Amino acid sequence: MTILVTGGAGYIGSHTVIELLKQKEEVVIVDNFCNSSPEVLNRLKMITGEDIPVCEGDVQDKAFLREVFSQYQFDSVIHFAGYKAVGESVEKPLKYYQNNIAATLNLIEVMNEYHVKSIVFSSSATVYGMNNQVPFNETMPTSATNPYGYTKLMVEQILTDVANSDSEWSVTNLRYFNPIGAHHSGMIGECPNGTPNNLMPYVTQVAIGERKELNVFGNDYDTHDGTGVRDYIHVTDLAKGHVLAIEYNRKHNGSRVFNLGTGKGYSVLDLVKTFEQMNQVPVPYKICDRRPGDIATCYADAKKAKEILGWQAEKTLEDMVKDSWNWQKKNPYGYHHQ
Ligand code: NAD
Ligand code: WQD
Repeated sequence: MTILVTGGAGYIGSHTVIELLKQKEEVVIVDNFCNSSPEVLNRLKMITGEDIPVCEGDVQDKAFLREVFSQYQFDSVIHFAGYKAVGESVEKPLKYYQNNIAATLNLIEVMNEYHVKSIVFSSSATVYGMNNQVPFNETMPTSATNPYGYTKLMVEQILTDVANSDSEWSVTNLRYFNPIGAHHSGMIGECPNGTPNNLMPYVTQVAIGERKELNVFGNDYDTHDGTGVRDYIHVTDLAKGHVLAIEYNRKHNGSRVFNLGTGKGYSVLDLVKTFEQMNQVPVPYKICDRRPGDIATCYADAKKAKEILGWQAEKTLEDMVKDSWNWQKKNPYGYHHQ
């Protein structure tokens, strides 16, 4: 049975493709490389030894999707494709609503046309908003503070409504916490375009000398050292959660949501210090103002995924900082300048 992986050349998608192939699943990637490099495909071949079929195109293009669905017999879809920069979503909301919501509607419609009714969707811990108490569990009220967050909330709702309207559908919304790390080979990893928005790629770029120092956004939060606390999760652990979600979808119709996090929170300075210690490389930083929209503390209650999917994160913060650095050292310019 073949799984369509939209956004399979991206950071989380590429790591998930490896875990799917390990479980002998057949995979087809759809990606338009708007935020990834075709070089990922060479790397995936080197890691897995397999030629993974790739259809280059845009999920916003329904005719293209129909071609893909008529070429392969899919039993499930993992839908990673989308934009993910919170700040940009505030500047360009329509771009985000178009690519994250309208494109997903296209995908669902084409899935219906081809009777492919199982989907795993990349949601985010951002849907817990600003007003819940940690640890965040799946029954808590959701909200959003920016267009990116609204796209995740809306797509979760759309997919849940689709499953409610047609009992043949199986929907799993996965709420990722903060994915970092890279494949242990150092051949694939996170490769942001331009200045990184997220902490870990910024840290690795400072460590390699590409940027002068890290800006730590605030040290006056109500946390153990004043800096923001997050639930960092190794991307390989996250990827494995998708394999289990697909297996669950095959056995259960309806819809459900799971947190994918470790259940542990680390501060910005915990992460920086662990990175420096494990990798023996300095990460100069300075304390700056808070970043608007950030919350003090965010970590998961990860029990539901353990109980129902049998999934739990295995890798430690030490593993994550080592693997992020291994990737950055081996690829100082990411996938660029090969
Ligand atoms: P990414 O940008 O590395 O991967 C997304 C991939 O989708 C890219 O390869 C991009 O080229 C492709 N893509 C985007 N729009 C497309 C379209 N219309 N048609 C075809 N391909 C398209 O991002 P990622 O970090 O791997 O995230 C994957 C998903 O997980 C996204 O939906 C993101 O919102 C979600 N998510 C990510 C994080 C995170 O911190 N990385 C956290 C929570 C949720
Ligand atoms: C982590 C911590 C920052 C950068 C975002 C999205 C979320 C999800 C994951 C997609 C915070 C601090 C950061 C820097 C810093 N993505 N920081 N200096 O904000 O928890 O979550 O990515 O769904 O939706 O909002 O992640 O990595 O940006 O920040 O001090 O240069 O690091 O303030 O405390 P965040 P992040």
